Amino acid sequence: MFEGKVILTGVKPTGTPHLGNYLGAIKPAIQLGKEALAKGGKHYMFIADYHAINAEKDPAVLNQKLREIACIYLAAGLDPSVSVFYRQSDIPEIHEITTILYAYTPKGFMNKAHAYKAAVDKNREAGKPDDDSINMGLYTYPTLMASDILAYDTDIVPVGRDQVQHVEIARDIAGAFNAHYNEKLLHLPTYYIDDHVAVVPGVDGRKMSKSYGNVIPLFDDDKAIKKAIFSIKTDSRPMEEPKNPEEILVYEIYKSIATPEQLQEMGDGLRQGKLGYGHIKNMLLDAVITEIKDAREKYNYYMAHFDEVERFLQEGAAKARPVAQATLKRLKDTVFGNR
Ligand code: TRP
Repeated sequence: MFEGKVILTGVKPTGTPHLGNYLGAIKPAIQLGKEALAKGGKHYMFIADYHAINAEKDPAVLNQKLREIACIYLAAGLDPSVSVFYRQSDIPEIHEITTILYAYTPKGFMNKAHAYKAAVDKNREAGKPDDDSINMGLYTYPTLMASDILAYDTDIVPVGRDQVQHVEIARDIAGAFNAHYNEKLLHLPTYYIDDHVAVVPGVDGRKMSKSYGNVIPLFDDDKAIKKAIFSIKTDSRPMEEPKNPEEILVYEIYKSIATPEQLQEMGDGLRQGKLGYGHIKNMLLDAVITEIKDAREKYNYYMAHFDEVERFLQEGAAKARPVAQATLKRLKDTVFGNR
């Protein structure tokens, strides 16, 4: 399905990614990009730093998050010589495109966009006025995201479920624009959800999420990873008691990282009462450390040599910008009639 397609992934530099993000989003996104490239397509991967300032006002924090995200993607195997890897704020044309698209964006789209609605709901729950602390950046977020997508004639946007609606809005805005001029000026994007990607549970069994405080850290040292893994919930049944692996959280988490043989081994050991919780936690720890070892080294290298990363980002922007410029020209020529 990626034959010759343009794939674009955006990531907001907020939060420090954990193992669940790595296995459930970062690695699959890079994999999709590689598949598209192998089939003659194009892969854009960018850091949505303008989206981040809606929520994060501390430049030092923003800068740190941006560095972490950039280094994580490189460590996880993103190849900036073939993927176009850039930061949003290096492509100023995006804002001109956004301004043009505003004129074609019904306000109602923004009212029902879920990021905005979630913020309103939160205010209501807290007994605050609907618009408390909601800035225009958050409100108009989907139009900026539409520009991110439409600027590069994107075919496919791989997303998690929470972003589906935003891609649909981008598609609707493009459709409205094209319909107005009765011409295919903007390419209609579609979203793609990878159903094979597992949601990784956290150490308490809920979805792994920073807001639940149940994460297994990603590129931390072995000690911190071990501490998190040994805090995974278990019960007090003795080792000898045969257990159904499907009811055991360590096994659930192991599924997202183990080979089929490794998984079989843990499953058999539990069913036969030959493996205790300490054993299986050590097996998971080994698998996690094996998985991340090389990437962690690369990550630490890039964090210490960010000038190299900066060069990649500048090279990426140099490749992305002419494409955004061409789109902007097409739109300006159209709306101002000076073609
Ligand atoms: N809104 C996305 C998120 O919160 C980030 C993003 C911004 C994005 N622009 C994009 C994702 C364009 C895909 C395409 O995760």
